[in-house]
Amino acid sequence: MNIELIEEIKKLKREKNAIILAHCYQNPEIDEVADYVGDSLGLSRLASKTDADIIVFAGVYFMAETAKILSPNKKVLLPNLKSGCNMADMIDLKMVKEFKEKYPDVPLVCYVNSSAEVKAQCDICCTSANAIEVVKSLGVKKILFAPDCYLGSWVQKNLSDIEVISFPGYCPTHLRITPDDIIKAKELNPDGVVLVHPECTSEVVKLGDFIGSTTQMFDYVQKTNYKKYIICTEKGVFDRLQRDYKEKTFYLVNNRVVCHNMKQNSLDDILNSLKNETYEVNPEPEIARKALESINKMIQIKGKSVFNIK
Ligand code: 13P
Ligand code: SF4
Repeated sequence: MNIELIEEIKKLKREKNAIILAHCYQNPEIDEVADYVGDSLGLSRLASKTDADIIVFAGVYFMAETAKILSPNKKVLLPNLKSGCNMADMIDLKMVKEFKEKYPDVPLVCYVNSSAEVKAQCDICCTSANAIEVVKSLGVKKILFAPDCYLGSWVQKNLSDIEVISFPGYCPTHLRITPDDIIKAKELNPDGVVLVHPECTSEVVKLGDFIGSTTQMFDYVQKTNYKKYIICTEKGVFDRLQRDYKEKTFYLVNNRVVCHNMKQNSLDDILNSLKNETYEVNPEPEIARKALESINKMIQIKGKSVFNIK
């Protein structure tokens, strides 16, 4: 651990009245300088409330963009511009317009893992922590869901009286988890409780004992008394659970569940970001204004997301 680097980041944070928000898929060393670590919903809520002048978002681009939309008067920085999201890149403005045109008058629910332009086209946003509550809140019989078809399937499974028409997007990281991986993990750890992120395929979700967002997984581990958990989401969650719950045992479902986009941000990047105030995320104001309406509607809905406050 580079103590000097960490101290330099902390000093700059104080001098510039900056906060660092970190997603729990980030490299675990980022937690040493982060003010908050959590899931997309928890971090969005924080971004809307903070009185810091600068938000450094250790996450992927759409997260920093969402923070900027929620806090337009703050400077929002992404430490490394290579941090994109493959799922968010699967749908653009043209594609979302075509999707809507195919089903006129059906409301569109948009996963936050999407660009501001796409969010501006939807009726309401959701995250993996509140997708079911968000869809229920609309009180309609049919919805469009984009871009994650597997989160869409999870919503459909829980709300059988609503028809969910999903866009065919997906997360390549979560798709690397197969039912076979879970069967093998269970053979090796018969007492392991299986925690699955709803971005996984429906076949994988079926094998889960608990399905939830990243922060909901932390919450579940904290509130339950099992000895062993099989983790079916990005490795960052496994690393943090192992670090924070020494009395419990964790088993990562396979060693391929690493989101390389999320791992782009390093402590050096964060220092550079704070020093030079780079890379500023600034969606076009009219698009940001429209996207804000959909994000705000989501934030009003009670979600079960919590976050770790250091
Ligand atoms: P949550 O933060 O909602 O658990 O989502 C996981 C994810 O893939 C973020 O990109
Ligand atoms: Fe995007 Fe998947 Fe990485 Fe999340 S884990 S940032 S959805 S590619």
